[in-house]
Amino acid sequence: MSETKSLAANFHLVDGPLSRHKLAVLRDEKTRLPDFRQAMKELALIMVAEATRSMPTRPVSIRTPLRETEVEEISGPVCLVPVLRAGLGMLDGALALLPTATVGFMGLQRDEETALPVEYYVNLPTNLEEYLVLVLDPMLATGGSLSATLTKLKEYGATWISCLHAVAAVPGVERVTSEHPDVQFYTAALDPELDERSFIVPGLGDAGDRLYGTL
Ligand code: PRP
Repeated sequence: MSETKSLAANFHLVDGPLSRHKLAVLRDEKTRLPDFRQAMKELALIMVAEATRSMPTRPVSIRTPLRETEVEEISGPVCLVPVLRAGLGMLDGALALLPTATVGFMGLQRDEETALPVEYYVNLPTNLEEYLVLVLDPMLATGGSLSATLTKLKEYGATWISCLHAVAAVPGVERVTSEHPDVQFYTAALDPELDERSFIVPGLGDAGDRLYGTL
């Protein structure tokens, strides 16, 4: 994992051969639906492994087959929050590493004219202050959807939040890192700009449409 100097301290680029390889599959317009889904799931695994490095742990006493010893476990329950729809493409990968996690849902859809997020479904644990929250969304473009998600999560009490993305654009990263300095942001790619429709360029297209065959 490397830090990008010109961006905020709460921004983290997850960059290595494996994540680059998965991104290459996701970015290619020729990648077929099953391979796109599989690569998104595998990238989510990588992102969870990296983003959980900052999770707090607590000591626990156990017995190995030989003697008592002290080990560490993650210090609280984890809540995964996929942002519908595209975030669902990262859920199975995240659950593979965090199988006991609670799952909450944020339903947001960008208006195609304004690119502003419209909320259509929220189902979150009410006691989110007890949880370590991981937000899943392959795309961070203008940052509007993520900013609305984070505001909602904080209304529900969340205090420890990390966000996991496949591709993020600089304008969106600048927005969310400044609006939410208490949240950590992880992405496998940082793309320079948005086009006139607020799509990430070069990006990977519309992740929701590519995951669910609604192109
Ligand atoms: C996409 C993406 C993010 C959002 C990013 O979802 O999955 O949630 O747009 O854009 P923003 O940073 O400018 O808000 P979309 O609204 O297309 O919905 P979908 O996942 O159902 O396709």
